Amino acid sequence: MKVLVTGGCGFIGSHTCVELLEGGYEVVIVDNLSNSKKDVVNKIETITNKKVKFYEVNVCDFKELDKIFETEQIDAVIHFAGYKAVGESVSKPIMYYRNNLDSTLTLIEVMSKHNVKRLVFSSSATVYGDPEKLPITEDFPLHTTNPYGTTKLMIEMILRDLYKSDNEWSIALLRYFNPIGAHKSGLIGENPNGIPNNLMPYIVKVANKELPQLSIFGNDYVTKDGTGVRDYIHVVDLAKGHIKAIEKVSKDRGIDAYNLGTGKGYSVLEIVNTFMKVNNVDVPYKIVERRPGDIAACYASTEKANKILGWKAELEIDEMCKDAYNYVINNK
Ligand code: UD1
Repeated sequence: MKVLVTGGCGFIGSHTCVELLEGGYEVVIVDNLSNSKKDVVNKIETITNKKVKFYEVNVCDFKELDKIFETEQIDAVIHFAGYKAVGESVSKPIMYYRNNLDSTLTLIEVMSKHNVKRLVFSSSATVYGDPEKLPITEDFPLHTTNPYGTTKLMIEMILRDLYKSDNEWSIALLRYFNPIGAHKSGLIGENPNGIPNNLMPYIVKVANKELPQLSIFGNDYVTKDGTGVRDYIHVVDLAKGHIKAIEKVSKDRGIDAYNLGTGKGYSVLEIVNTFMKVNNVDVPYKIVERRPGDIAACYASTEKANKILGWKAELEIDEMCKDAYNYVINNK
């Protein structure tokens, strides 16, 4: 079975390609390298000792994408490609709507044209906004707090309408919680350009002395220690969830959403302390004001993914912290 992966050179995309190849799938990557590097393709091949087809193409380009579908016999698609920085989406909303919506619309048009109707979409827990209670189940009300999140929610709605219009489609909407960590090999991992916005890449840069100090955004939340609580999930576990989703869309028609998280919440301080302990490294930090738009706590109910996809995250927080640091040391 041949799977086309848009954004396959990115953080979650690359780990998913590894799991696909190791599971015996053929992989075709389409990535315009706007936030990733081509050598990721070689690294995926080194880890798996298998070949990958790579096309440096923008998913918004109908003609080029159409050519790929003409050349390759694609059976299913996993769609990761998209802009993902929350702060940037607030300052450049039109760029976010244009890119994330246009790429998805183009992709589904080309897929329809070639009668490829199995799709796994990379959504986010951001579609739950500030949840009223915890843990979050998939039937919670959906609303967003920034344009990035709105693109994810809009795409979910577009795909639901698509299914209503043509129920030959099989679509899985995967709502990720907070993916961190890296592949054990230390060859692929998270490598954001510039100063990171997210917690783990920031901690890693402080540990590596590329940045002087971590700012912890608020210690007055109603949580176990006052700092924000999130459901951190190892990116390899997350990648494995995509294989289960591919199996699901290959066998049943329909559209459904699944939370991919661990179901456990850790605070910022717990993450920082675990990171220091397991890696035996110092991460200086200071407490600062809350970050606007942040919520106190967020973690998943993973029951649905467990029951319907037969998937469960297995790696613990120690492993996530070790692997995130290992990747950076390995790539100094
Ligand atoms: C954010 C996005 C989410 C996106 C996810 C992964 C929002 C509201 N949510 O999630 O849509 O899918 O990133 O890209 O923006 N923290 C610090 N110091 C830092 C960085 C973070 O204390 O330098 C804290 C935050 O306040 C939060 C926790 O660490 O409590 C996690 O933050 P982060 O990694 O940015 O992820 P989210 O905000 O949960």
